[in-house]
Amino acid sequence: MPELLAFMEKALARREEAGTRRHLRPMALLDGGRVAVGGRVLVNLSGNDYLGLSRDPLLVERGLDFARRFGAGATASRLVCGNLACMEAVEEKIARMKGFEAALILSSGYQANLGLIPALCDRHSLIFADRLNHNSLVQGAKLSGAKVLRFRHNDLSHLEKLLRKAPVEGRRCILTESVFSMDGDIPDLEALSRLAEEYGALFVVDEAHATGVFGEKGMGLVKRGMAHAVVGTFGKGGGAFGAYVAGSDLLKNYLLNHMGGFVFSTALPPFLLGMMDAGLDRMAEMDAERSHLAALGHQLRQGLRALGFDTGASCTQIVPVLVGDAKKALALSAHLEKEGFLGVAIRPPTVPEGESRIRLSLSSLHTEEDVEGLLHAFASF
Ligand SMILES: Cc1ncc(COP(=O)(O)O)c(C=O)c1O
Repeated sequence: MPELLAFMEKALARREEAGTRRHLRPMALLDGGRVAVGGRVLVNLSGNDYLGLSRDPLLVERGLDFARRFGAGATASRLVCGNLACMEAVEEKIARMKGFEAALILSSGYQANLGLIPALCDRHSLIFADRLNHNSLVQGAKLSGAKVLRFRHNDLSHLEKLLRKAPVEGRRCILTESVFSMDGDIPDLEALSRLAEEYGALFVVDEAHATGVFGEKGMGLVKRGMAHAVVGTFGKGGGAFGAYVAGSDLLKNYLLNHMGGFVFSTALPPFLLGMMDAGLDRMAEMDAERSHLAALGHQLRQGLRALGFDTGASCTQIVPVLVGDAKKALALSAHLEKEGFLGVAIRPPTVPEGESRIRLSLSSLHTEEDVEGLLHAFASF
């Protein structure tokens, strides 16, 4: 038995040596974009609670209301007997707010990508994927069995070169994010959409980090007609948990027949549907919070650049501080923590080798003074 498990010891030791081993730490989320860790209160710059909705009473109240009205659990998949009235109502609300024909709710963004891509692509297909796509998109593409061609991050001429050289037979699909999770930059979505059209490719966009933050009512950057499928999530800007795929009626009907993660999984509990429903209502009215968040992002980037830190191509609420070496990123993170800020080091395999960073993610709950304080902490590293 011990020999059988020795590979785990070795793998962990390798990670320890490389400075990439991870550990769980107990956390308590507090008001004002704060977090209690190890007996101290820190400004939380590592969460994705972009609008502060995780602590919004309306979400909790409506969650409880839905649980009382519809029960604690759905008891089965939607296709069996779990399709409760609240589910289609929230889907219709998502579709209406996003301006798309239809939406299908799924358990998480990870599950959505793992189910969506294999439903759209098979081993005869070609997937054109941005090199920095999130792990869930990478795994979804792998699971589909399609040949995956990775294009340089946000490099449309590289993508076009790959599209031009690709064989004509088989389905093609371009996969990208609208706000990149680790870099906080935005691709030229209109141009990507045009390329997809020109080369006869499906266009799929993951809006996990744009949801709540960008677009009309916070519903993301992809408008109707630009992409064939869009993934949105509720676990970040939405404040709670869960995800959806938005697209046409045809796409929804196809997915509810062909997407394993939907067909063979228990429907979400009503409590969660209530939180999604309230999250959508709150997101729709938070233009002031979105402007404040954008201003904080600008202040943070300007300040960091003035101090000589590299924030890459960030133009959103996600601001990476690129340091390269994993151990240096850990040292910077420890320094920030000493100064009262939680800025977790992101290391390989989450980011490519040599691209370790502190990923700072702002919330509309943060203040200009919080950002000032953070900049002082960076200055003293
Ligand atoms: C781009 C992207 N897609 C999908 C996910 C997964 O979403 P969820 O947390 O809802 O599983 C994440 C989460 O980090 C993400 O960054």
